[in-house]
Amino acid sequence: MSINYNEKIPNNVNLSGDRRLQRALERWQPKFLNWWDELGPEKSTDFDVYLRTAISVEKDGWAHFDYVKMPDYRWGIFLTPSNSDRTIDFGIHKGQPAWQEVPGEYRSELRRLIVTQGDTEPASVEQQRHLGKTCPSLYDLRNLFQINVEEGRHLWAMVYLLQAYFGRDGRDEAEAMLERHSGDADKPRILEAFNEETPDWLSYFMFTYFTDRDGKFQLGSLAESGFDPLARSCRFMLTEEAHHMFVGETGVGRIVQRACDLMNEYKTENSGPKSDVRKYGGIDLQTIQKYLNFHFSISVDLFGQELSTNAATYFNTGIKGRFGESKIDDDHLLHDSSYSVLELQGQRIINCDAPALNAVNERLRDDYIEDCNLGVRRWNKIIADSGHNFSLKLPHRAFHRGIGQFAEIQTDPEGNIISQTEWDRRHSDWLPTHEDQQYIQSLMHPVTEPGKIAGWIAPPKSKINRHPFKFEFVRFN
Ligand SMILES: [Fe+2]
Ligand SMILES: [Fe+2]
Repeated sequence: MSINYNEKIPNNVNLSGDRRLQRALERWQPKFLNWWDELGPEKSTDFDVYLRTAISVEKDGWAHFDYVKMPDYRWGIFLTPSNSDRTIDFGIHKGQPAWQEVPGEYRSELRRLIVTQGDTEPASVEQQRHLGKTCPSLYDLRNLFQINVEEGRHLWAMVYLLQAYFGRDGRDEAEAMLERHSGDADKPRILEAFNEETPDWLSYFMFTYFTDRDGKFQLGSLAESGFDPLARSCRFMLTEEAHHMFVGETGVGRIVQRACDLMNEYKTENSGPKSDVRKYGGIDLQTIQKYLNFHFSISVDLFGQELSTNAATYFNTGIKGRFGESKIDDDHLLHDSSYSVLELQGQRIINCDAPALNAVNERLRDDYIEDCNLGVRRWNKIIADSGHNFSLKLPHRAFHRGIGQFAEIQTDPEGNIISQTEWDRRHSDWLPTHEDQQYIQSLMHPVTEPGKIAGWIAPPKSKINRHPFKFEFVRFN
């Protein structure tokens, strides 16, 4: 199942066998490149970037590294190979063959899911477009660009599905993907977290840790879809997504490491209202906690309402499963089972049993939160190993919410309900203030000499394709 790179659009879906589709995608391609030019990484056209390109969808096939100018990156269409006797694992069609075409009765739901997923991909590229100007090292700059080109490819994956399976509406939706823009007042991106700014590298690492991880869970449940081409697209996207979260986890970890190193070097502590770490050019752990609170809470919103009839329909009809559906030990129908959900009752948050079918969003959010915690534990190990007594913590899921029942209330990070007055008085202890943002911004100066690194972050421990940190990962020309 190798990828044909001789074609204008690299693919493993035998695109040349479908002239109509090939022409439609070839018409979309220059518009995509135009968008990349206008809203992709700023002033990066001539850089030679040491990028990884997929050459096949097999396990070792996508680790091909070379210097590439980003506009020449071979964006294309790669699906995990089809398994011709795959059956649907859940819902009322359980046991039936997976669909190779879109079932007419589920067409609009499937289209909406694909459009919503697809919209996030170019959105994150737009959000991150100015970061190259302030990269802490060439290693980080290269990773930023790698993620950007892959998000571009994820857009291709969704646009392929729209163009191949949804006729005219699909073509219109493909165009609209390039017309909505992150933060645009008239045509914003669909989901709110993708309209937020990513103004600095701390925000960026938090975004790739928390918000790309939402992608992992959404893609994971779409990878279970009864609509086989969607499932196969998402499976290949997941392999790329893992790297994005790795960049986030290690990025935050290195900032934590640097804070600890500074505390040790200058024999200062992290406690107190204005940590000394800032005096020495690092980012104190309290500020890291505030950014964590912000990015976690807006990412938790992405899972939607706690109880949702839409989500129930998606599951019941077999178009979107649960994360790791086939590994879950139950009847995969959920008609008679219940699921424990936190609910707001008056002024209290209590545990309730809800019909499991209506609670699939909440279940996905639970899986997500558990996964988020793993990295937090590794960050805390860095702090403990450096001899400091401080723990980073995920805030309660009710904290700072914009969607779902908790959007109506205010809580502290522990999930205690508080009054609006108290929130107004205290939220600056929990979320980044203007002053915090200004401080972080003041640290953002580019470091572009091979082997050099900014003062607020520790160098990475990992290599890229066996190349050490001092390798020239980007050449500016
Ligand atoms: Fe993506
Ligand atoms: Fe991603």
